[in-house]
Amino acid sequence: MLLACALGVLGTITALTSTLPAGAAASTLGAAAAQSGRYFGTAIASGKLGDSAYTSLANREFNMVTAENEMKIDATEPNQNQFNFSSGDRVYNWAVQNGKRVRGHTLAWHNQQPNWMKGMEGSSLRQAMINHINGVVGHYKGKIYAWDVVNEAFDDSNGGRRNSNLQRTGNDWIEVAFRTARAADPAAKLCYNDYNIDNWSWAKTQGVYNMVRDFKSRGVPIDCVGLQSHFNGQSAYNSNYRTTISSFAALGVDVQITELDIQGGSASTYQAVTNDCLAVPRCAGITVWGVRDTDSWLGSGATALLFDGSGNKKAAYNSVLNALNAATPNPTPTPTPTPTPTVTPTPNPTPTPTPTPTPTPVPGTCSATIETTNTWPGGFQSTVTVRAGNSPVSGWTVQWTWPGGQSISSLWNGTQTVSGSSVTVRNAAYNGSIAANGSTTFGFTANGSAATPTATCS
Ligand code: G3I
Repeated sequence: MLLACALGVLGTITALTSTLPAGAAASTLGAAAAQSGRYFGTAIASGKLGDSAYTSLANREFNMVTAENEMKIDATEPNQNQFNFSSGDRVYNWAVQNGKRVRGHTLAWHNQQPNWMKGMEGSSLRQAMINHINGVVGHYKGKIYAWDVVNEAFDDSNGGRRNSNLQRTGNDWIEVAFRTARAADPAAKLCYNDYNIDNWSWAKTQGVYNMVRDFKSRGVPIDCVGLQSHFNGQSAYNSNYRTTISSFAALGVDVQITELDIQGGSASTYQAVTNDCLAVPRCAGITVWGVRDTDSWLGSGATALLFDGSGNKKAAYNSVLNALNAATPNPTPTPTPTPTPTVTPTPNPTPTPTPTPTPTPVPGTCSATIETTNTWPGGFQSTVTVRAGNSPVSGWTVQWTWPGGQSISSLWNGTQTVSGSSVTVRNAAYNGSIAANGSTTFGFTANGSAATPTATCS
């Protein structure tokens, strides 16, 4: 408590006097975030682009933009097969003309569906969703940093899927949306975005985590998770937020804080959120859901944002700016989005797996092969296939040695023991038995450059 108070006082002093050495501290959120390879963004409403107080403030402070409503389904396809990008393009053009990148929000969602879509079900809705994704992602191909491909698909309480017309088209609707988006724009990062997945102990968070883990293990193209982070009394910031961010990151996806607002505007909570992002290399950036308190979907009374209605910096602004300025450079900055491809992109960006040669199974024994299924700067993901020989196997142990300092960050469907560069993985409780000539797999994400060492199985 005493420490908390002392830190609080220190934070206030820092905020007031700006004790950082002259020249070392950036003076805007975007520039401060850029020092560690991150961005700082805001939601922008097209209807406010005529308000010069709004645009000059937004232009000064932020380097990433999300259209608050203008790229949603009802805005972009108001009548089936009649796409309308006028408002979306206004936001996009304002952002790009002012040197900012753009997050796309959002392609498949139960909410803000146009009337023609609301009444649809089954295969016609599935086809309409695919058509919508192709139309919108195609229009912005090569121009969007990251798409919120699917928004808010999980139930609020039980960790399962939300009941919606999209969900009723079949449980695979989310992965179909991701595969469609990847084919339509291989250069955009593809995110799953949701609220109330900030608290690591909540069932909804675990439900989304399990889906992302499953997607990564099966090669479904997902690059990022968006934590909306709308914090209020019912859904309060919890210090396990950092665990949530690092746990998603360990699956091999970026984490983006996509719609941050905090009812009451607590400076210390804003500071904690910022520091939690800065603590995880794959936390790529933060977007607040509006510029001034008067721009917030919550209304100005919630005082949830970083600027008051007159555009003055609030205490929360100073706490965020100081936290960003105190950050160490990001050791593994998220890659700059690939520019518009000049050659026809291959539809499937998953790197070609580099399997080790498949050993011929010997009767009564097992064999294991490692293949790389995904790579990113500083890390990679692998799937290991364990095959039984001509006799069934009941319990297996796979062993390999890393050639160049690699280390596993997360492993599933097995239990690992690490000794220096040597890795030993034993079956999990549920996958030790393999039928004769059958196989099972486990997977992991790792730090370092992708490697496929020869594995032994016993
Ligand atoms: O533009 C019309 C206006 O012409 C009309 O007079 C008025 C009457 O109600 O409505 C206006 O549209 C409203 C629109 O915001 C623009 O202000 C819609 O009714 C209203 O529903 C819409 O609310 C948006 C909400 O999403 C809809 O779900 C909020 O602006 C927007 O901030 C909010 O954003 C969502 C994210 O997309 C997803 N995560 C949660 C977040 C907050 O709810």
